[in-house]
Order: sequence, then structure tokens, then C-alpha cells
Amino acid sequence: MKIAVAGTGYVGLVAGVCFAEMDHDVTCVDVDEKKVEVMRQGISPIYEEGLEELMQKNNAKGTLHFTTDYKEAYKDADAIFIGVGTPEMPDGSANLSYIATVSRQIAETVEKDCLVVVKSTVPVGTNDKVEQFIKDFLVHDVKVEVASNPEFLAQGTAVYDTLHAARIIIGTESREAEALLKKIYEPFNLPIVSVKRRSAEMIKYACNDFLALKISYMNDIANLCELVGADITDVAKGMSYDERIGARFLNAGIGFGGSCFPKDTKALKHLAREYGYQLKTVEACVDVNSAQKVRLFEKAKERMISFSGLKAAVLGLTFKAGTDDLREAPSIDNLKLLLAAGADVYAYDPKGEERARQLFPEGKLEQGTMSYVSDPYKALEGANICFVFTEWGEIKAITPEQFKSRMHTPLVYDGRNLYDPKQMKEAGVEYYSIGR
Ligand code: UDX
Repeated sequence: MKIAVAGTGYVGLVAGVCFAEMDHDVTCVDVDEKKVEVMRQGISPIYEEGLEELMQKNNAKGTLHFTTDYKEAYKDADAIFIGVGTPEMPDGSANLSYIATVSRQIAETVEKDCLVVVKSTVPVGTNDKVEQFIKDFLVHDVKVEVASNPEFLAQGTAVYDTLHAARIIIGTESREAEALLKKIYEPFNLPIVSVKRRSAEMIKYACNDFLALKISYMNDIANLCELVGADITDVAKGMSYDERIGARFLNAGIGFGGSCFPKDTKALKHLAREYGYQLKTVEACVDVNSAQKVRLFEKAKERMISFSGLKAAVLGLTFKAGTDDLREAPSIDNLKLLLAAGADVYAYDPKGEERARQLFPEGKLEQGTMSYVSDPYKALEGANICFVFTEWGEIKAITPEQFKSRMHTPLVYDGRNLYDPKQMKEAGVEYYSIGR
């Protein structure tokens, strides 16, 4: 099957590479010349386990191509997958301008009947509009249909998630479109759930927002645990044995970040409002998360007279471990607050430093200063306070004794519940975590 993929971010690139792995003839399109050149050499623009190996393998096999020439890629494709971004607008709605640009390019270039498959997360009803939009601008006398095929991969495990997905959701309005998509996914040998287009679009939001709600619920319960003297780790463990609840996504912490949950909760809230409906559960989830992100800073503020001139060790910057992505990471909100309060921040992150430097360059920033260090122990050296924002293995490996001996004042605020409160106390570390 000849497949074109528009956009080479997490969604587009991983899908393209995995389709090539299944022996489809894949061309990935991106506007960025430099990025395309790098990908041709088998180098991934994003850090994702196993991705480069598969890129190199399929580049060599001849099933994977990269180009900026969308005309060449689209004109005789059997299916064109759209995996471009749908970033958040200032009002929380999804920005569909990249989808519109690609749709127009498709309409102007396709020379044979083809299926356009929207993989990007888009508000319910967008696929109908994309189909109409393409029809309006079609240049050649061909039939183009649009299908929805939402993506459920998580960053850090993107390749695994795609090759071993729990299910493939396909949303179509015709038997032909359904059959073609099933044929494309046949080699993956995964369960396929076939529904109508609007349902497929909704499934994606319903899943992401449900998981986000689960996290916010646990954070809310964790905050209550602190007040009533219960321990959220034990509470989560006790809950996890109930199969109706499940063991995953029960970790309370510093709040969710990333490119999906923050954006998709706000987008669904916005979509509901557009239809005159208030989605109270999701709205509460958004509110709980905003407060949760800065909860530790607020606690620390109560404890300190001032942050001015204090050395603050910040361990972990990315929104979770296993990725170099900082989008909507709770660390960002906290760094802003710490720097505005005059702290000298020494930050460590094994993968996120480069991206963090673009947001927070080294040197004087606001009232404080920003520095990066190459190992977590350097950050702790002589520090007055320490914040843990990401659950990287090398951060988890720090022992209570190391906090105690390296820091000037062993005061630790842990947003990921990585350490045992009892052991920290015994080592003489003043330790605050979430819900314990
Ligand atoms: C998520 C979904 O998991 C994925 O299916 C969807 O396609 C895209 O959005 P991702 O954003 O990559 O994937 O990361 P995920 O592992 O889901 O974590 C999201 C955020 O929730 C992170 O900030 C993480 O730290 C936080 N989280 C997750 C918790 O705070 N507690 C948990 O128990 C789980």
C-alpha cells in the first residue's frame, strides 16, 4: 500500500516508521528541509526509544522515505495520514490551521482516489469539515474520503505502543474506507474497533480526559490524605486491586503535563461549552491540575522567609521520565516562581536540558539565576532546598544520606513520591511529598 504521512512529530513520524516496518511504502512529509535531511540519515528529531533503529532499518529496506515535496508524496498515494499538531488556542480550543493547510495541499495535488486519515486529535466534527474542505478545493476529478484514526501512543513508549496497541480505532462513513483502513492495519495483527467518524473522534478525547481525571482525582485524594493523616501510596495500592479501577494511572504527584492531557482537557471543555453544555467533571480536573502543579512551591513558600539568594536544586524538568519533552511540564511553572522569588536554580535533567535552555537560558533570569548541571549530585552540592519534578531513575537512585551530606540544609520537596518518608526522616532530611 502506498502511504503518505503529513507531519513528522510524535504522531506522524512514529506512525510512518511503523507502517514502513509493516512493509507499506511510506513517504513522510515535513516542511522543514533540515529536519527531512536529518531523518533521511536515520536520525530521529525526537528522543524515542527504538525509533532510530526502525528508521535506519526501513530507510535501508527502501520502505521509508522523507521529503518536503508534498505533491510527489500525495499525488498517487492510496492513503494520506495527517499527523500534524493541533495546538491550544488562547481560549483553550484546538488550533486547526495546520490541518487546514495540509487538507488544501491534498486537495490540490491528489491525482487518484484516496483515503485521507486524520490521526491528529481533533474536536468532534472536524473530519466532516476536512472532507468538505478537500472536496471544495479538489483540482482533479477523483474521489477523496476522510477517516478518523486517533492515536493513543504515549511519549517514551511510542514505538512499543504503536506496534502493541491495545486497539486500533477507525472511524469511517463508508464500507470502502473501512475496508482500506483494515487492510492497512492487517499486518499489525491488533484488535480493530470500527465505528462512525464522530464516535472515533470522541473516543480519543474521552480516553485522554478520563486518564487526566483519574490523575486529578488521585491528586485531590492525596491532598485530603495529608489533611486527615492517611498515606496516598497505601490508598492507591488498596484501590488498585479492584479490577474496575485498575492499577495504572493512580500515581498522585505534581500534576499532569505533556502535549496531550492539558490540551485535550481544555479542548473538550471548550467543545462542550460551544454546544451549550458544561462538562463539570473535566472542568474540575483542569482546576485541580493547575493548583497541583504549584502546590509544593506554595508549601515551600510557607516554610521559608524568602527564596532570595538561596541555592535551589531542581531535579527533573521533563513532564515525565523517558522523554525530552517539556511541554506543559510542571517544572516550568515552578521555575518561573522560583526565579521570580530570587532563587539561584541549579537544574538537572538527563534528557530535557537542551529544550529547557531554550525556555530558561543560563545566567541572570528575573530576580534569580539559572544554571544547569550534568549530574544530580552537583545540583545538591551546598543547596538550601531541593525540588523533584520528574521520576528519572538516576534521581530516584539518590539516597537519603546523599541528600543529607550534600545539601547545606537538607530540605526536599518531592513531586513524584520517589523516596521513603521514614528513611528520609531517619537520615535527618526534612522531607515533603504528595499525600503522605
Ligand atoms: C498521554 C496518553 O497516555 C496517551 O494515550 C495519549 O495518546 C497522549 O497522552 P503522554 O502525554 O505521552 O500520553 O504521557 P502519560 O504517560 O500518559 O503521562 C501524562 C502525564 O500524566 C505526565 O505528566 C505524567 O507524569 C502524569 N501522570 C501519569 C501522573 O501524574 N500520574 C500517573 O499515575 C500517570
